[in-house]
Amino acid sequence: MDLINNTLSVLPSSLYLLMQRVLNGFYSIFAYVFQSKLKTIHDDVILITGGGRGLGRRLALHFAKFQPKHIILWGRNKGPLQQTAADVESLGVSCSFQVCDVSKREDVNVNFQHAVQSIGDITILVNNAGVVYGNLLLEGTDSEIENTFGVNTMAHLWTVKAVMPSMMANNRGHILCMSSMLGLMGLKRTASYTAAKHAVTAMMEGLRQEIVDHPGIHITLVHPYIIASEMFAGCQVRFPRLFPALSEDYVAEKSVHAVLKNKKQILLPWIMNVLIFVRSITPVKVLLPILKFLGVDRTMDTLHQER
Ligand SMILES: NC(=O)c1ccc[n+]([C@@H]2O[C@H](COP(=O)([O-])OP(=O)(O)OC[C@H]3O[C@@H](n4cnc5c(N)ncnc54)[C@H](OP(=O)(O)O)[C@@H]3O)[C@@H](O)[C@H]2O)c1
Repeated sequence: MDLINNTLSVLPSSLYLLMQRVLNGFYSIFAYVFQSKLKTIHDDVILITGGGRGLGRRLALHFAKFQPKHIILWGRNKGPLQQTAADVESLGVSCSFQVCDVSKREDVNVNFQHAVQSIGDITILVNNAGVVYGNLLLEGTDSEIENTFGVNTMAHLWTVKAVMPSMMANNRGHILCMSSMLGLMGLKRTASYTAAKHAVTAMMEGLRQEIVDHPGIHITLVHPYIIASEMFAGCQVRFPRLFPALSEDYVAEKSVHAVLKNKKQILLPWIMNVLIFVRSITPVKVLLPILKFLGVDRTMDTLHQER
């Protein structure tokens, strides 16, 4: 009886989700048929947070293939920023970097002003920097929780606030935020990370409505599954052949493509759309044993914490 009640209670939201997915599917087909051309970014100045290493570095190199006017990289460590900037320049694209801790509002605002004064308005913002601590909520320190929100959520708000005025004035711009599948679902040992990523998902939903009168501004939200980068190094899934980690290049290529196509949201890989839908119609009582069987609850137990 409980099972039937649970199933009935999630039915309206599941139907809504199904409708949303079906409509998104139709929209993608429509967009593919009628606007299959990629937009050009030759006049764009791109700012990538966390651009020195990991996915951010790959994003910089993939964007560079489309010859933007300039790429600015932000991160805390000069070495990787310098290396990535040199590699981008070797592809014939002007590139600079700034040492910037995006969790610090002052740092973001000061560096942003310098960037605009020396290079010009930022027309594509890529909020990519992120951090994760694989602790149970009661194990983690308060400063880890604050840093998780500082980097994964607050930085998005500060950078979006910084770029929006010029984007709105010129009715031109694109904001990409790197969320995660954990911006749509939860996972043991990532309570603050998932909360911070869900916050970004919600921020983008709100922003989407705020820019509705500015058709020249686009936003893209990316939700990747586990990527084979440093961030989730060591974490394990029970059936790796079924759910292999994504390569940084795959995620970077799909993300850049989503920007060039003005896509609003992508889940990577695409099959995650199905997973999210199935999860939404499965009662929690049924879901928990399934997740346990799949070993999802142990995924983060082996995360390498040294960073
Ligand atoms: N890896 C995954 O499995 C996965 C899955 C889904 C989504 N994501 C998301 O993808 C994005 C990139 O992750 P990744 O896999 O490339 O992780 P990563 O290899 O650990 O790289 C993290 C990046 O964030 C930067 N960063 C961290 N704290 C910063 C701060 N306070 N200020 C400025 N930059 C900071 C780092 O640069 P510095 O060290 O130089 O500061 C680095 O460039 C993140 O938003 C992450 O949440 C990752």
